[in-house]
Amino acid sequence: MKEFQTSKAIKRLPDQFFATLIDKLNAYESKGWDTINLGQGNPDQPTPDHIVDSLKEAADNPEFHQYPPFHGYTFFKEAIAEFYKREYDVDLDPETEVAIMPGSKTGLVELSQCFLDPGDVALVPDPGYPDYWSGIEMVGAEMKPMPLLAENDFLPDYEAIDSESWEKARLMFLNYPNNPTGAVADRAFYEETIKEAEKHDVCVIHDFAYGAIGFDGVKPLSFMQVEGAKNTGVEVYTMSKTYNMAGWRVAFAVGNPSVIKAIETIQDHYFCSIFGGLQKASATALLSSQACVDELASTYEHRRDLLLSGLEEAGYHVEPCKGSFFAWLRVPEGYSSQSFADALLEETGLFVAPGIGFGASGEGYVRIGLNNSEETLKEAVVRFKKFAEK
Ligand SMILES: Cc1ncc(COP(=O)(O)O)c(C=O)c1O
Repeated sequence: MKEFQTSKAIKRLPDQFFATLIDKLNAYESKGWDTINLGQGNPDQPTPDHIVDSLKEAADNPEFHQYPPFHGYTFFKEAIAEFYKREYDVDLDPETEVAIMPGSKTGLVELSQCFLDPGDVALVPDPGYPDYWSGIEMVGAEMKPMPLLAENDFLPDYEAIDSESWEKARLMFLNYPNNPTGAVADRAFYEETIKEAEKHDVCVIHDFAYGAIGFDGVKPLSFMQVEGAKNTGVEVYTMSKTYNMAGWRVAFAVGNPSVIKAIETIQDHYFCSIFGGLQKASATALLSSQACVDELASTYEHRRDLLLSGLEEAGYHVEPCKGSFFAWLRVPEGYSSQSFADALLEETGLFVAPGIGFGASGEGYVRIGLNNSEETLKEAVVRFKKFAEK
């Protein structure tokens, strides 16, 4: 069959790391292997009933069978503003400071399309969520990795960024609680970020995907809580992790009105918002009791404790992650992140994500997801022990 040539933009797209990873796992599973998937960040529990019920009810509403308003329903934007006020004491104008997005993965790609031209630089965390790269590559901009090192508590060192990169930089992606390292950021770090961003005229995109998942009694700080943040950029929040709604594809951005306007402008061309029923159920999630969220965070904390104490017994020390649902394990001497992940899969059926897939500074680590039941994590620990003893 004739093969049509794709555009240069499509050719520039990097391999989708997680898609490649899952292909590998599927190949092993199709051979009948007994695998445990610790590699993906896919929430394993169902969406709480009251949110599902709200969608069911909304599906019967003929108003939602029509095209939704281009920029989404006002009731959803107001719910988002109320959520930010209640959770973070942040004031948002629902009309100009909130944009609804069909999942934050899409939104993060759109943001590069909105603000970068060829030759511009985007500062990205390294290791970091690989989808930041997609939009940057698509527009032909340059990526400047900001190494996240253990000795800096996995925060970027702004002084290490050369002046030419600062000069060309237009966007900076940040993500705390962090995927993949599990680190969190404090107010001082965000204050420094705002200072640097203002000095170099860089727009900050804070990806708050794991905002609801903080451990040891510490609630992760929203970037928007820090003075000056709204002037400096936006925060992207997804329903996927907080409410186990990954399959629903609902997210939003809040903050700087010019950035919100750009998101809505690009979306006017891509989408006509998202199904009204999804917006209704998402508003229900944000405005109802948050007991399900507290329970979720404590479930992940228990799983973290169980996994880390088991790994410790197996001889692998992992610093407890402070948020997100990932453990960032330094691979034993003699292995690369890929060779350790491969050996673990071949010898035990344990599937972990090699750190190199998150950037050069991810080398030497693998990411272990906490998206499995305690029972499965106990079995994973047994296999880690066997692997360590061989
Ligand atoms: C750091 C980070 N940002 C964004 C996303 C995308 O979330 P979604 O597209 O489900 O909103 C993920 C998903 O794994 C993530 O880990």
